[in-house]
Amino acid sequence: MKRGLGVCYYPEQWDESLWASDAARMAELGLTWVRIGEFAWTRMEPQPGHYDWAWLDRAIETLGAQGLKVVLGTPTATPPRWMLDLYPDMLAVDAQGRPRGFGSRRHYDFSHQGYRGECAKIVAQMAIRYSKTPHVCAWQTDNEYACHNTVLSYSAAARATFQNWLAQRYQSVDALNRAWGNVFWSMDYTAFDQIGLPNLTVTEANPAHVMAFRRFASDEVVSFNKLQTDILRKHTAAPIAHNYMGQVTDFDHFATGADLDIAAWDAYPIGFLSDRVVASPDDKRHFLRQGDPDFQAFHHDLYRAVGRGRWWVMEQQPGPVNWAPWNPDPLPGMARLWAWEAFAHGAEAVCYFRWRQAPFAQEAMHAGLLRPDSAPAPAFAEAAQVARELAAMPDVAHTQAKVALVFDYASDWAWQTQPQGRDFSYFGLVFDMYRGLRRLGLDIDILPPHTADLSGYALVLAPGLATITPALMAALTAYQGTALIGPRANAKTAEFAIPVPLPPNLPGLDCVVARVESLPPDVRVPLANGGAFHRWREKLEGAAEVVEHTADSLPALLRAGGAHYLCGWPDDTALDRVLTQLCHGADLPIHPMPKGLRRRRAGDVTFLINYNPHPVTYEGQTINAADVVWSRA
Ligand code: GAL
Repeated sequence: MKRGLGVCYYPEQWDESLWASDAARMAELGLTWVRIGEFAWTRMEPQPGHYDWAWLDRAIETLGAQGLKVVLGTPTATPPRWMLDLYPDMLAVDAQGRPRGFGSRRHYDFSHQGYRGECAKIVAQMAIRYSKTPHVCAWQTDNEYACHNTVLSYSAAARATFQNWLAQRYQSVDALNRAWGNVFWSMDYTAFDQIGLPNLTVTEANPAHVMAFRRFASDEVVSFNKLQTDILRKHTAAPIAHNYMGQVTDFDHFATGADLDIAAWDAYPIGFLSDRVVASPDDKRHFLRQGDPDFQAFHHDLYRAVGRGRWWVMEQQPGPVNWAPWNPDPLPGMARLWAWEAFAHGAEAVCYFRWRQAPFAQEAMHAGLLRPDSAPAPAFAEAAQVARELAAMPDVAHTQAKVALVFDYASDWAWQTQPQGRDFSYFGLVFDMYRGLRRLGLDIDILPPHTADLSGYALVLAPGLATITPALMAALTAYQGTALIGPRANAKTAEFAIPVPLPPNLPGLDCVVARVESLPPDVRVPLANGGAFHRWREKLEGAAEVVEHTADSLPALLRAGGAHYLCGWPDDTALDRVLTQLCHGADLPIHPMPKGLRRRRAGDVTFLINYNPHPVTYEGQTINAADVVWSRA
C-alpha cells in the first residue's frame, strides 16, 4: 500500500479561473489525494430535484488532469435551506426541547425519514454520475458525525423511532419495566408509545432509560451511514471512508466502521490541547505550539482498529485553527512531525485541511497551506518536505504490537450516565493508561470490546469496561499472558444494574468489589509503595493474592496467575510502577522515554518523535525540537 499526502479543497468556494493553477500547484507540491464535495449540496442541487453537476465534472477533471486522486464527499452534513421548507421538522432538538437552527451545518436529525430520503437521493445521483469517473478513487460519507453535539436529538422523529427500537429490543413493556427497574419510582409503562425521551424530567431520568437512548442514538448514526454506503456500493467498488473526530464518543465507531473500508479522522493537535486534553497548566504551556504528545497517537491507534487496519488522517491541522479557546501558531516543523507520526502508526494517507485559507465565513481565521492571497503559508514547505521524504522512503510494514488496550464506546456512555464522581471520565481513564504505556516507549494496539482473540499480546489492559462482553470474557479466560483489568470493570449488567454476584466476576480471580468511592480532585489515597489513587477507589474482598496495598492497608492490586485487578484510578507515579512491574513479569522490554519524546516502531523502522520545544538526547542521539527521525534495524 503506497502512502500518500493530500489536501482538502473546496472548488465551489473559489473562482473557476483559480482551479487549474491550484491543481498544478498541488501536484507540484507532491500531493496525490484531494478531498472535495462534502459541503457543496446547494451547488449540486440548487433547487429540489434540479441538479447541476457541470461545475463538479469540470473540477474533478481539472484535478484529475494533474494526476490527483479525488476523495468525493457526500454533502449530507449541509442540507440546503430549501430542505427546511420541505421538512420543517427535520432539525435536531436539544435537551431543552429547542430546535437547532439553520445557518451553520449539521442541522439535521438522524431519525427524520424525510431527510433520510433526500440523502438517499443525492447520494444515488452522485454515485451514478461519478462511480465511473476514473479520478474518483475514494468516497467519504457525510462529515464528522457527532460534531457540534449532533447525535442526541430530542425530536418527535427520534421519539417515535426510539419507541420502535425499544419494542424490538424488549418485545414486551413488562420486560422493559423489569429490565429498567421502573418499579423504583412508579415509573412503569403500559405501552411503548408512552415512553418519552430522557430529557426534561424533574430530576435525573432512570439511567437505564438514558443508556437505552444512548444505544439507540448510536444505532441511528450507524443506520444513517449504512444508508449511504449501501447506495454507494451498488455503483462503485472504490473504498468508502468517514472522517471521525478526536475524543468524540457519542456513537459506536466500531459499528459504523464495519460498514466502511477506511476509518479516517481529523487531527487538530493544538486545537485539541487547548480545547479538550486534560493536562497540567505547565504541560499546556510546554506543548502549546505542538499539541499533546500522546493524543494524536491514541487516535491513530484507535482508528486503525475502527478501520480494521485501513485508516487515514483526512484533515491535518496546518497552522492556527479558529475554534479552540486559544489558537497558537504551531512551532516550525510540527506540520511535518504530525504527518510523519501518522505514517509511523500506519496511516495510508494524510490530508491537510485546507488548501487555501478562506477570507470569508466561519473559518476565515483558520489557516491553510496557502494564505488567502494564495502565497504559501508556513506549512506549505513542510508538506513539500514530507512528500519528498515519503517518495524516498520504502513502505514500512505494520506489525501487531505486544500491548493491547481495550476501548469501548458504550462504557463512555455508561460512565457519563452515572459518573458517581464529577470528574470520572472513561475516556480520561483509558487515555491515562495509554499515556503510561507510551512513557515506557511501548507500541499499542487498541482493540474493540468484542475482541475474541488476545493471542500474540504479552500485556492486555482493560480499564473501566462497564460490561465485559461475552466474547472478551471468553478471550480473557483463554488468555495466557498478563492482563490488567479495572478499576470499575464489569460493574454493570447489559441493562445497567449492579450484577450479583458482585463485580468484577472474572474467572479465577477470587475477589468482589464490596464498596466504591469517588474523590474530589485534591484528595489522594496513597499507596504503600508510592503514588496514589485519585478520583476513584474500590474496596475489594476475597482470597486473591494482594500484590500492592494502599497506605491504609487495603488491596490496591490483586492477582491470580497473569490476571490483575487494579482497585482505583492511579496517578502517574503509581501507574508507571505498576506498568513497569507488569512488563517485567511479562518479559516485555520497556524503553522509558524523556518527557515529550515518543517512540514508535513500525516493521523494522524505529521513529523518534520530539514534541518538545527544545532538543532532546536519547540513547546518544540528539533529536531537534519539533523533529522526527527514523532508523532501520
Ligand atoms: C473539522 C471539520 C472541517 C473544518 C475543520 C476546522 O472539524 O471537519 O470541516 O471545520 O474542523 O478545523
